Amino acid sequence: MRQNPNHRLLGQTCIVTGASSGIGKEVALAMGRDCANVVVNYITDAEAAEEVAHQIEINDSIAKAIAVKADVSKEDQVQAMFQTAKQHFGTVDILVNNAGLQRDAEFHEMTLAQWQFVLDVNLTGQFLCSREAVREYLRRGKVDYSCALGKIICMSSVHEVIPWAGHVNYAASKGGVMLLMKSMAQELGPKGIRVNSIAPGAIQTPINRDAWETPEALNDLMKLIPYKRIGQPADIGAVAVWLATDESDYIHGTTLFVDGGMTLYPGFTTNG
Ligand code: BGC
Repeated sequence: MRQNPNHRLLGQTCIVTGASSGIGKEVALAMGRDCANVVVNYITDAEAAEEVAHQIEINDSIAKAIAVKADVSKEDQVQAMFQTAKQHFGTVDILVNNAGLQRDAEFHEMTLAQWQFVLDVNLTGQFLCSREAVREYLRRGKVDYSCALGKIICMSSVHEVIPWAGHVNYAASKGGVMLLMKSMAQELGPKGIRVNSIAPGAIQTPINRDAWETPEALNDLMKLIPYKRIGQPADIGAVAVWLATDESDYIHGTTLFVDGGMTLYPGFTTNG
Protein backbone atom coordinates (compact mmCIF):
# COMPACT_ATOMS: atom_id res chain seq x y z
CA MET A 1 0.00 0.00 0.00
CA ARG A 2 1.12 3.54 -0.76
CA GLN A 3 2.50 5.17 2.37
CA ASN A 4 3.87 8.47 1.11
CA PRO A 5 1.82 11.56 1.70
CA ASN A 6 0.23 12.86 -1.45
CA HIS A 7 -1.65 16.05 -2.05
CA ARG A 8 -4.64 14.94 -4.08
CA LEU A 9 -7.22 16.14 -1.53
CA LEU A 10 -5.43 19.26 -0.34
CA GLY A 11 -7.89 21.85 0.96
CA GLN A 12 -10.83 19.43 1.03
CA THR A 13 -12.77 18.25 4.04
CA CYS A 14 -14.04 14.73 4.43
CA ILE A 15 -16.50 13.24 6.90
CA VAL A 16 -16.00 9.52 7.48
CA THR A 17 -18.75 7.92 9.54
CA GLY A 18 -17.92 5.00 11.81
CA ALA A 19 -14.23 5.87 11.63
CA SER A 20 -12.97 4.72 15.02
CA SER A 21 -12.23 1.18 13.82
CA GLY A 22 -12.18 -1.23 10.89
CA ILE A 23 -12.65 0.01 7.34
CA GLY A 24 -13.73 3.51 8.43
CA LYS A 25 -10.55 4.04 10.42
CA GLU A 26 -8.38 3.12 7.47
CA VAL A 27 -10.42 5.30 5.10
CA ALA A 28 -9.99 8.25 7.49
CA LEU A 29 -6.22 7.69 7.73
CA ALA A 30 -5.91 7.35 3.95
CA MET A 31 -7.86 10.58 3.38
CA GLY A 32 -5.54 12.34 5.80
CA ARG A 33 -2.46 10.98 4.01
CA ASP A 34 -3.76 12.71 0.90
CA CYS A 35 -4.04 15.97 2.86
CA ALA A 36 -7.80 16.08 3.42
CA ASN A 37 -9.10 17.47 6.69
CA VAL A 38 -11.03 14.66 8.32
CA VAL A 39 -14.03 14.46 10.62
CA VAL A 40 -13.59 11.12 12.40
CA ASN A 41 -17.14 10.18 13.35
CA TYR A 42 -17.75 7.64 16.09
CA ILE A 43 -20.57 6.45 18.30
CA THR A 44 -19.05 4.64 21.30
CA ASP A 45 -15.26 4.60 21.36
CA ALA A 46 -14.16 8.21 21.86
CA GLU A 47 -10.61 7.26 22.75
CA ALA A 48 -10.13 5.25 19.55
CA ALA A 49 -11.59 8.05 17.44
CA GLU A 50 -9.33 10.65 19.09
CA GLU A 51 -6.39 8.38 18.36
CA VAL A 52 -7.34 8.17 14.66
CA ALA A 53 -7.61 11.98 14.53
CA HIS A 54 -4.24 12.28 16.27
CA GLN A 55 -2.64 9.80 13.84
CA ILE A 56 -3.91 11.80 10.87
CA GLU A 57 -2.27 14.97 12.18
CA ILE A 58 0.99 13.12 12.90
CA ASN A 59 1.08 11.38 9.49
CA ASP A 60 0.48 14.53 7.53
CA SER A 61 1.60 17.98 8.56
CA ILE A 62 -1.16 19.71 6.58
CA ALA A 63 -4.23 17.60 7.32
CA LYS A 64 -6.29 18.45 10.38
CA ALA A 65 -8.70 16.05 12.06
CA ILE A 66 -11.35 16.08 14.74
CA ALA A 67 -13.30 13.27 16.36
CA VAL A 68 -17.05 13.92 16.44
CA LYS A 69 -19.61 11.75 18.20
CA ALA A 70 -22.90 11.23 16.39
CA ASP A 71 -25.39 8.42 15.91
CA VAL A 72 -25.88 8.44 12.12
CA SER A 73 -29.43 7.16 12.52
CA LYS A 74 -30.50 10.27 14.49
CA GLU A 75 -31.38 13.34 12.45
CA ASP A 76 -30.43 15.93 15.10
CA GLN A 77 -27.07 14.29 15.78
CA VAL A 78 -26.21 14.12 12.07
CA GLN A 79 -27.12 17.79 11.66
CA ALA A 80 -25.01 18.72 14.69
CA MET A 81 -22.04 16.79 13.25
CA PHE A 82 -22.25 18.73 9.98
CA GLN A 83 -22.47 21.99 11.94
CA THR A 84 -19.32 21.08 13.84
CA ALA A 85 -17.55 20.13 10.62
CA LYS A 86 -18.46 23.47 9.05
CA GLN A 87 -17.41 25.43 12.14
CA HIS A 88 -13.99 23.76 12.11
CA PHE A 89 -13.25 23.46 8.42
CA GLY A 90 -15.61 25.89 6.66
CA THR A 91 -17.39 23.33 4.51
CA VAL A 92 -17.55 19.64 3.63
CA ASP A 93 -16.41 18.25 0.27
CA ILE A 94 -16.49 14.49 0.70
CA LEU A 95 -18.82 12.23 2.66
CA VAL A 96 -17.95 8.59 3.23
CA ASN A 97 -21.05 6.81 4.50
CA ASN A 98 -19.17 4.05 6.23
CA ALA A 99 -20.94 3.40 9.53
CA GLY A 100 -22.54 -0.03 9.48
CA LEU A 101 -23.13 -3.05 11.65
CA GLN A 102 -24.48 -6.58 11.75
CA ARG A 103 -27.00 -8.16 14.11
CA ASP A 104 -27.21 -11.68 12.75
CA ALA A 105 -29.96 -14.18 13.45
CA GLU A 106 -31.78 -17.00 11.73
CA PHE A 107 -34.75 -15.58 9.91
CA HIS A 108 -37.43 -17.12 12.12
CA GLU A 109 -35.63 -15.89 15.22
CA MET A 110 -34.78 -12.39 14.08
CA THR A 111 -36.38 -9.81 16.33
CA LEU A 112 -37.92 -6.60 15.07
CA ALA A 113 -35.29 -4.78 17.12
CA GLN A 114 -32.46 -6.60 15.27
CA TRP A 115 -34.07 -5.86 11.91
CA GLN A 116 -34.74 -2.21 12.74
CA PHE A 117 -31.36 -1.45 14.28
CA VAL A 118 -29.48 -2.66 11.21
CA LEU A 119 -31.78 -0.82 8.80
CA ASP A 120 -31.59 2.36 10.91
CA VAL A 121 -27.80 2.52 10.97
CA ASN A 122 -26.89 0.97 7.60
CA LEU A 123 -29.58 2.54 5.42
CA THR A 124 -31.33 5.44 7.18
CA GLY A 125 -27.92 6.61 8.43
CA GLN A 126 -26.67 6.85 4.84
CA PHE A 127 -29.81 8.78 3.84
CA LEU A 128 -29.49 11.28 6.70
CA CYS A 129 -25.77 11.93 6.21
CA SER A 130 -26.10 12.16 2.41
CA ARG A 131 -28.97 14.63 2.71
CA GLU A 132 -26.94 16.92 5.00
CA ALA A 133 -23.94 16.65 2.67
CA VAL A 134 -26.05 17.55 -0.37
CA ARG A 135 -27.59 20.52 1.46
CA GLU A 136 -24.10 21.78 2.27
CA TYR A 137 -22.78 21.22 -1.28
CA LEU A 138 -25.72 23.17 -2.74
CA ARG A 139 -25.40 25.97 -0.17
CA ARG A 140 -21.65 26.33 -0.68
CA GLY A 141 -21.62 26.12 -4.47
CA LYS A 142 -18.79 25.43 -6.88
CA VAL A 143 -15.18 25.31 -5.75
CA ASP A 144 -11.99 25.57 -7.79
CA TYR A 145 -10.16 22.66 -6.15
CA SER A 146 -12.52 19.87 -7.23
CA CYS A 147 -14.34 19.10 -10.48
CA ALA A 148 -17.45 18.00 -8.59
CA LEU A 149 -19.56 20.22 -6.35
CA GLY A 150 -19.17 17.48 -3.77
CA LYS A 151 -18.67 13.74 -3.50
CA ILE A 152 -20.57 11.00 -1.71
CA ILE A 153 -19.13 7.51 -1.25
CA CYS A 154 -21.46 4.87 0.16
CA MET A 155 -19.91 1.88 1.86
CA SER A 156 -21.97 -0.99 0.56
CA SER A 157 -21.01 -4.67 0.49
CA VAL A 158 -20.87 -7.64 -1.83
CA HIS A 159 -24.18 -8.36 -0.11
CA GLU A 160 -25.84 -5.65 -2.15
CA VAL A 161 -26.01 -8.44 -4.77
CA ILE A 162 -25.15 -11.69 -2.93
CA PRO A 163 -28.04 -12.98 -0.81
CA TRP A 164 -26.93 -13.90 2.71
CA ALA A 165 -28.77 -16.47 4.79
CA GLY A 166 -28.81 -15.66 8.48
CA HIS A 167 -28.19 -11.99 7.71
CA VAL A 168 -31.37 -10.83 5.96
CA ASN A 169 -31.41 -7.49 7.79
CA TYR A 170 -27.84 -6.76 6.67
CA ALA A 171 -28.37 -7.92 3.07
CA ALA A 172 -31.62 -5.94 2.83
CA SER A 173 -29.84 -2.82 4.13
CA LYS A 174 -27.06 -3.15 1.56
CA GLY A 175 -29.51 -3.88 -1.26
CA GLY A 176 -31.19 -0.65 -0.15
CA VAL A 177 -27.87 1.20 -0.24
CA MET A 178 -27.42 0.12 -3.86
CA LEU A 179 -30.60 1.84 -5.05
CA LEU A 180 -30.23 4.73 -2.63
CA MET A 181 -26.83 5.41 -4.20
CA LYS A 182 -28.02 4.95 -7.80
CA SER A 183 -31.14 7.06 -7.32
CA MET A 184 -29.13 9.82 -5.64
CA ALA A 185 -26.62 9.65 -8.50
CA GLN A 186 -29.38 10.00 -11.09
CA GLU A 187 -30.94 12.96 -9.26
CA LEU A 188 -27.78 14.75 -8.11
CA GLY A 189 -25.51 14.27 -11.13
CA PRO A 190 -27.06 17.26 -12.93
CA LYS A 191 -26.23 19.37 -9.86
CA GLY A 192 -22.57 18.34 -10.11
CA ILE A 193 -22.60 15.98 -7.13
CA ARG A 194 -20.77 12.72 -7.71
CA VAL A 195 -22.14 9.64 -5.95
CA ASN A 196 -20.68 6.12 -5.90
CA SER A 197 -20.42 3.02 -3.73
CA ILE A 198 -17.64 0.72 -2.69
CA ALA A 199 -18.67 -2.89 -2.11
CA PRO A 200 -16.06 -4.61 0.04
CA GLY A 201 -15.89 -8.38 0.20
CA ALA A 202 -14.39 -10.09 3.22
CA ILE A 203 -12.13 -7.49 4.81
CA GLN A 204 -10.30 -8.51 7.97
CA THR A 205 -11.97 -6.42 10.67
CA PRO A 206 -13.78 -7.07 13.97
CA ILE A 207 -17.17 -7.29 12.17
CA ASN A 208 -16.30 -10.68 10.61
CA ARG A 209 -13.85 -12.07 13.17
CA ASP A 210 -15.64 -15.45 13.10
CA ALA A 211 -14.78 -15.80 9.43
CA TRP A 212 -10.99 -15.50 9.83
CA GLU A 213 -9.84 -16.11 13.39
CA THR A 214 -9.33 -19.87 13.14
CA PRO A 215 -7.41 -21.64 10.34
CA GLU A 216 -10.54 -23.70 9.57
CA ALA A 217 -12.74 -20.64 9.21
CA LEU A 218 -10.15 -18.90 7.05
CA ASN A 219 -9.86 -22.00 4.88
CA ASP A 220 -13.63 -22.03 4.37
CA LEU A 221 -13.59 -18.33 3.56
CA MET A 222 -10.93 -18.85 0.89
CA LYS A 223 -13.39 -21.06 -1.00
CA LEU A 224 -15.40 -17.88 -1.59
CA ILE A 225 -12.46 -15.73 -2.76
CA PRO A 226 -10.90 -16.55 -6.16
CA TYR A 227 -7.92 -14.26 -5.46
CA LYS A 228 -7.19 -16.35 -2.33
CA ARG A 229 -6.52 -13.74 0.28
CA ILE A 230 -8.64 -11.92 2.82
CA GLY A 231 -8.93 -8.19 2.18
CA GLN A 232 -7.32 -5.56 4.38
CA PRO A 233 -8.83 -2.21 5.39
CA ALA A 234 -6.06 -0.49 3.41
CA ASP A 235 -7.44 -2.13 0.23
CA ILE A 236 -10.60 -0.09 0.80
CA GLY A 237 -8.84 3.06 2.01
CA ALA A 238 -6.89 3.38 -1.24
CA VAL A 239 -10.02 2.98 -3.37
CA ALA A 240 -12.03 5.43 -1.27
CA VAL A 241 -9.39 8.14 -1.65
CA TRP A 242 -9.17 7.58 -5.39
CA LEU A 243 -12.97 7.75 -5.69
CA ALA A 244 -12.84 11.11 -3.93
CA THR A 245 -10.20 12.60 -6.25
CA ASP A 246 -10.61 14.15 -9.67
CA GLU A 247 -8.79 11.10 -11.10
CA SER A 248 -12.13 9.28 -10.92
CA ASP A 249 -14.25 12.28 -11.94
CA TYR A 250 -16.13 10.41 -14.67
CA ILE A 251 -17.14 7.56 -12.33
CA HIS A 252 -20.67 8.29 -11.22
CA GLY A 253 -23.47 6.02 -10.01
CA THR A 254 -21.22 2.97 -9.91
CA THR A 255 -20.48 0.33 -7.30
CA LEU A 256 -16.80 -0.65 -7.24
CA PHE A 257 -16.49 -4.21 -5.96
CA VAL A 258 -13.30 -4.60 -3.93
CA ASP A 259 -13.65 -8.25 -3.08
CA GLY A 260 -10.87 -10.44 -4.52
CA GLY A 261 -13.49 -11.82 -6.91
CA MET A 262 -16.09 -12.88 -4.34
CA THR A 263 -18.86 -11.76 -6.71
CA LEU A 264 -17.58 -14.17 -9.41
CA TYR A 265 -19.61 -17.03 -7.83
CA PRO A 266 -16.53 -19.25 -7.22
CA GLY A 267 -18.84 -22.10 -6.16
CA PHE A 268 -19.43 -22.60 -9.89
CA THR A 269 -15.73 -23.22 -10.63
CA THR A 270 -16.19 -26.97 -10.32
CA ASN A 271 -19.95 -27.22 -10.21
CA GLY A 272 -23.12 -26.16 -12.01
C1 BGC B 1 -19.75 -8.30 5.96
C2 BGC B 1 -18.69 -9.28 6.45
C3 BGC B 1 -18.52 -10.39 5.45
C4 BGC B 1 -18.33 -9.87 4.03
C5 BGC B 1 -18.31 -10.98 2.99
C6 BGC B 1 -19.38 -7.85 4.59
O1 BGC B 1 -20.25 -6.88 4.12
O2 BGC B 1 -19.84 -7.22 6.87
O3 BGC B 1 -19.07 -9.81 7.70
O4 BGC B 1 -17.37 -11.15 5.79
O5 BGC B 1 -19.37 -8.97 3.73
O6 BGC B 1 -19.34 -11.90 3.17
